[in-house]
Amino acid sequence: METPVIEKSNGKIEVLSDLEAVSLRAASIFVSATKSSIARKKRFAVAISGGSTPRRLYTLLGSEAYRDQVDWRYVHFFWADERCVPKDDEASNFRTAFDPFLSKIALPDKNIHRIKGEEAPDKAAMDYEEEIRRFFGGPERPGFDLIILGMGEDGHTASLFPGSKSLEETVRLAIPVYSEESRRNRITLTLPILNNGDQILFLVAGPSKASVLSEILGDGEKKKRFPAGLVRPVHGNMTWLIDQEAAGKLRGL
Ligand code: 6PG
Repeated sequence: METPVIEKSNGKIEVLSDLEAVSLRAASIFVSATKSSIARKKRFAVAISGGSTPRRLYTLLGSEAYRDQVDWRYVHFFWADERCVPKDDEASNFRTAFDPFLSKIALPDKNIHRIKGEEAPDKAAMDYEEEIRRFFGGPERPGFDLIILGMGEDGHTASLFPGSKSLEETVRLAIPVYSEESRRNRITLTLPILNNGDQILFLVAGPSKASVLSEILGDGEKKKRFPAGLVRPVHGNMTWLIDQEAAGKLRGL
């Protein structure tokens, strides 16, 4: 069966059967974005997320079928957000990607630009911002080649939560936040740097996401209440890969 694709003002939506199909499609987008960026400029900078949804994608990319398709020497990994925990903690977003993926590929250590969750949140955010600025050099507002995001049931993305002051940030690239929901300090990229990405890929699966997703991808103004609805690339493109359960309340499919 053909994948329904919907073009909206806030991105292209692809509805796939289940999380496995979402992950396979994401892996193929990842590999082709990587190849084309390396061919053009010998570099690919990606910001990835934690949570449960991208785990299968990471396992795929670290598997034999994918890991030899990319010249990892030119690929640089950053994180959209991190929980303030040591890097070997179960909750670490670094670990979520490292164990199934980054530890399995021929990636130079210097290409891993992790957020130091073990440090004091203010310092970790400041150091991370400096690391990003150093890496990109000149531009006032750096832009990643690809950003992989998830969406929480409350419409949060990265560690940008509904109603949080962090949504108003216009200058900083990375800031510390406190999440009431997880009772944890976190570090997150801010909307200005997310929206400056060349390609943004949202991965959303499961029935618990259906209601909020229908608001965010709908035509009403309500989407602005949700941080994921505030992600709108300035010059890049955005694709939502969602499974049928998460798409359950979308109109017009
Ligand atoms: C995190 C994330 C976060 C995540 C969403 C969705 O650190 O938790 O980066 O923004 O993407 O909460 O999480 P799930 O994939 O677990 O539903």
